[in-house]
Amino acid sequence: MKTIYFDYLVIGSGIAGLSAASKLSKKARTAILTKSSIQESSTQYAQGGIAAALHEDDTPVFHMQDTIKAGDGICNKEAVNILVKDGPDRVKELISMGANFDKIGNDFDFSYEAAHCRRRILHAADSTGKEIEKTLGNNILKNENVTFFENTSVIKLLIKNNECQGCIAIKKNKIYIFYAKSVVLATGGCAQVYSRNTNPTVSTGDGIALAYKAGCSLQDMEFIQFHPTTLYLGDKKPISLFLISETVRGEGAVLRNIPGKRFMPDYHPDAELAPRDIVARAIHNEMKKTEAQHVFLDLWGLKKDAGSRFPNIYKRCLESKIDITRDFIPVAPAAHYFMGGIKTDINGKTDIKRLYAAGEVASIGLHGANRLASNSLLDGLVFGYRAATDALKNTEVKSVLKINEIEKSIKDDYISEQTYSRIIAIKQNIREVMWSNAGIIRDGKTLNQAVSILQEMDWILNINTFKEAIFEVQNMLNVAKLITKFALERQESRGGHFRSDFPQKDDINWKYHISHSINDDAL
Ligand code: FAD
Ligand code: SIN
Repeated sequence: MKTIYFDYLVIGSGIAGLSAASKLSKKARTAILTKSSIQESSTQYAQGGIAAALHEDDTPVFHMQDTIKAGDGICNKEAVNILVKDGPDRVKELISMGANFDKIGNDFDFSYEAAHCRRRILHAADSTGKEIEKTLGNNILKNENVTFFENTSVIKLLIKNNECQGCIAIKKNKIYIFYAKSVVLATGGCAQVYSRNTNPTVSTGDGIALAYKAGCSLQDMEFIQFHPTTLYLGDKKPISLFLISETVRGEGAVLRNIPGKRFMPDYHPDAELAPRDIVARAIHNEMKKTEAQHVFLDLWGLKKDAGSRFPNIYKRCLESKIDITRDFIPVAPAAHYFMGGIKTDINGKTDIKRLYAAGEVASIGLHGANRLASNSLLDGLVFGYRAATDALKNTEVKSVLKINEIEKSIKDDYISEQTYSRIIAIKQNIREVMWSNAGIIRDGKTLNQAVSILQEMDWILNINTFKEAIFEVQNMLNVAKLITKFALERQESRGGHFRSDFPQKDDINWKYHISHSINDDAL
């Protein structure tokens, strides 16, 4: 066991973690702990772009209105106001660090995405996340105050007297204890709990499970965003599905069902550019009606050359023998983004002192019941920075958890090979149950079924382990159970949470966020 001291710890190296670390490391020694390589994160795969009111026709007020409308009545307006007002400055900083967004002449080539009233999306072709990750990563690597710990999984937060003092992590089977004045959790989302999802394998909800076990409240866990269009390649079950960006529809692509009919105008006046939850449900409905596993995306009407505007999508589809300039793309929805997470205030503060959360792992209520496209990268950038700004105020540690106290809390149970394989197999069961029972359309019956099936897996939660793979399955189970329980509690349909047994929103009773912690007995 090795003990390491830093001023600040950032857990996760996506946009939220790197944004926080950029700020912290200007003032103090900062460690970034990340489960895989620096780049591996949802951020790295972001396609469409980052929204910011920078176009001359646009204003933060328009951006705010669109965000609130997409959020379906329950956005935290204070948080939205901060996002749209601070967003342009944070994006300008990113540009000054070297982020290379597409331009037409001297002006940025702002693109459209669903539910935006203006062209507002800055992008680097269809690999915007990669450009941002590279820019922030290169900038931070120049700073001597920062140390990266790659392939380092955080498995426990160190808490004493409701104060966070650091964490326990494993790297190559060795245990490390990190002490710090504050910890920023930026571990991203949890869409891997669904068998059909767009996220990288690191998105297993670790931060949510860690914070919940430590005593933080979680909020809005029922709100999962299903992206309407992922590449459908038959019955294969890849661990992540390839996304076909919403900007493809923003540039003019239309959706057709199997007989070839364009169906979105029948569902919403904005047709293919209706809010994401509406498009995902429309596709789900058309797939059911035509007894098919997918619909088609037709790019024939695009004004731009599809191959050069979307080089990444073009290349990936061609590998599967689909030429997007000629062929329709078979697409189907998949779990994509998590509006819920660790409850924080507008400065990233959680219920535990010195513990902050930012980015997809956090829930300020910013996105309400449904996130507006391209607002997530901006969220990580803006609120990662804010969490770091507040964390810098914590300059001394009051009570220190002693090493022998920590040692006592560490247990590594013996697990036979057979049990190990059984637990790993459970991962796929969780993913399947969540997709079938707590997916795009859920109801009381399917959710209760999910609760009982997931309960049968509870035995794995009693195992104390340092095996990362098992720790991940435990986190996925905890998160899946929480999602189903929150989804049962919200007896209405709103945004990404659609209950076929409660189709009508009841605005009078339900205009609030649900939150729970391990300390209340509601779950
Ligand atoms: P992430 O970028 O996911 O980073 C999380 C980090 O935490 C990773 O480094 C991970 O390894 C680390 N981590 C996790 N668990 C642990 C642990 N136990 N110990 C140590 N480290 C850990 N949003 C937009 O706004 N625009 C887009 O165009 C867009 N396109 C998208 C396309 C795809 C395919 C996907 C998957 C998402 C897209 N999104 C987009 C959503 C957006 O990319 C994410 O919401 C955002 O990048 C999340 O950033 P983050 O920093 O919170 O988390
Ligand atoms: C996309 O490019 O469609 C993803 C955008 C997002 O998730 O905001």
